[in-house]
Amino acid sequence: MADTLPVDSLSIAAVVAHVDEINGSDETGNGSVESPYQSPSKAIQAHGETVKILVWKAAAAEDPAGYSPISGAALKKAVKKAAEADKKAKKQADQAAEQAAKDKAAADDRERVLEAAKKIVLKEDPSLPPATKIKIRNGVENRGKRVKVSGWVHRLRVQGKSMAFIILRDGSGFLQCVLTDTLCQTYDALTLNLESTVTIYGVINELPAGKTAPDNHELTVDYWECIGKAPGGDDAISNKVTEASDPAVKYDLRHLVLREEKASGILKVRSQVMKAFRDHFDNRGFCEVTPPAMVQTSVEGGSTLFELNYYNEKAYLTQSSQLYLETCLPSLGDVYCLAESFRAEKSHTRRHLSEYTHCEAEMAFITFDDLLVQLEDMVCDVIDRVLAHKPSADIVYKLNPDFKKPERPFMRMDYTAAIKYLEDNNIKKEDGTFYKVGEDIPEAPERAMTDKINRPIFLCRFPAEIKAFYMKRCPENRDLTESVDVLMPGVGEIVGGSMRISDLEELMAAYKREGLDPSPYYWFTEQRKYGTSEHGGFGLGVERFIAWLLNLHTVRDACLYPRFTGRAFP
Ligand code: 4AD
Repeated sequence: MADTLPVDSLSIAAVVAHVDEINGSDETGNGSVESPYQSPSKAIQAHGETVKILVWKAAAAEDPAGYSPISGAALKKAVKKAAEADKKAKKQADQAAEQAAKDKAAADDRERVLEAAKKIVLKEDPSLPPATKIKIRNGVENRGKRVKVSGWVHRLRVQGKSMAFIILRDGSGFLQCVLTDTLCQTYDALTLNLESTVTIYGVINELPAGKTAPDNHELTVDYWECIGKAPGGDDAISNKVTEASDPAVKYDLRHLVLREEKASGILKVRSQVMKAFRDHFDNRGFCEVTPPAMVQTSVEGGSTLFELNYYNEKAYLTQSSQLYLETCLPSLGDVYCLAESFRAEKSHTRRHLSEYTHCEAEMAFITFDDLLVQLEDMVCDVIDRVLAHKPSADIVYKLNPDFKKPERPFMRMDYTAAIKYLEDNNIKKEDGTFYKVGEDIPEAPERAMTDKINRPIFLCRFPAEIKAFYMKRCPENRDLTESVDVLMPGVGEIVGGSMRISDLEELMAAYKREGLDPSPYYWFTEQRKYGTSEHGGFGLGVERFIAWLLNLHTVRDACLYPRFTGRAFP
């Protein structure tokens, strides 16, 4: 070590170490002028007590580089500190060696146990009755019979050498399975990790009072097989993603996140919500249609269109199927669709997606009031249907314990009254001024108002200039439209709807006002030519509806694989 150190003019024989308490480093320093230590004790630890320590002092005279010999008191302190550090390092090294020996013994031990376990081979007892293959959701009606269930190891708890509990998941439910004796001593049992797939045989029995498990029963296992092993260690699912993981990691690993209870619960409710919308419309006599996703006209303005090259022609992903639904009224009567809509959104908020599921409906020969009553009926009926499905109701109340069914009639509030409400309640723009009639009410103030009122609101009659070209004007005030946004506490707008222009001349004027070329809209315009009617409809964002129902922080969690700015994978 000594010959690696620089020898300076103050001492020829002794080893010299430089110390700079501000710019030196005990980790990377070597005691040279170029790379000093940070502490004198480190110099002693590295080179022994005979080392000659030079300490950096800005105004030092002894050394041209600004170093001067350490004081006696500082040296004494450094020697003591170095001795303590050496002692601590030795203790740590001893402990590490002890731990390594223990780890090795444990590893050897485990190796021996695993080798022995390989010799234990399970065999299905041929004297037992044949097992019936069931889904976990059918467990209750299959209690007492010998069954066979396949699924993924959702939770695993090993109790000593002779008992292990698997919570099995098959998508239809969760089932506690109890393995005893040799069943939990095989090689597969000892190396089983979460998310492995298994097929388990045995009898489901009701639990005695005081014990808890899903569906209040457990499967006493008599035979099982491992179908596909999942990794442990760093690759174990529990090490790859957790509740606390960064949201970007969670979206990258959405395929694994979906396996957890909350994410899968949301998707199960989503499935019932979609079914409830279909059942509602079916029950009210609506016909479902499937409009195209690739289109050549805009509905909600050009700024949020996703453009695509369609055989060298310009086309777009649809923003809304409304115009197509309108063309169905003369042939199919009241119509609806549950289809994907696409928005190249500039808004990066927790309620905006680039692709969302849009529930849209259209009705002919109705008034604006009929439209509002139909909307109320739909929201309340869909909620009733979802809550009538016990497994969904359980998830709703688990995720949103305070959920209350909305009461009819919903509050009706005109846009102009909302502008006044914002002023009366001191809800301002970012620049500190109040919103004025004619201005769009953005997400934040809309939310503040909705959360304060804390019940569903029909926000009605927006000015024509801030709404889409197709909206019908109010007969009593031509500056306003017969339009409605449905606002829900926690989310804000979940529905946008309106009566539509029924007069051909008025529609032509609307195209002109919006700067739209009417020619690609000929098929829409001709609805006003071949037997027009008063008509109206709406679009509901399914993810926003679910976010409201389940009290989700973001609509992203209401999707299977959410699409939003910067994310179109996995
Ligand atoms: O208010 P919007 O833009 O209305 C329409 O598209 C009409 N053509 C619908 C119709 O009358 N048939 O959108 C309707 C609803 C919104 O209230 C919102 O719930 C949802 O669609 N929505 C979005 N949801 C998630 N992400 C986005 N980027 C959304 N944009 C609209």
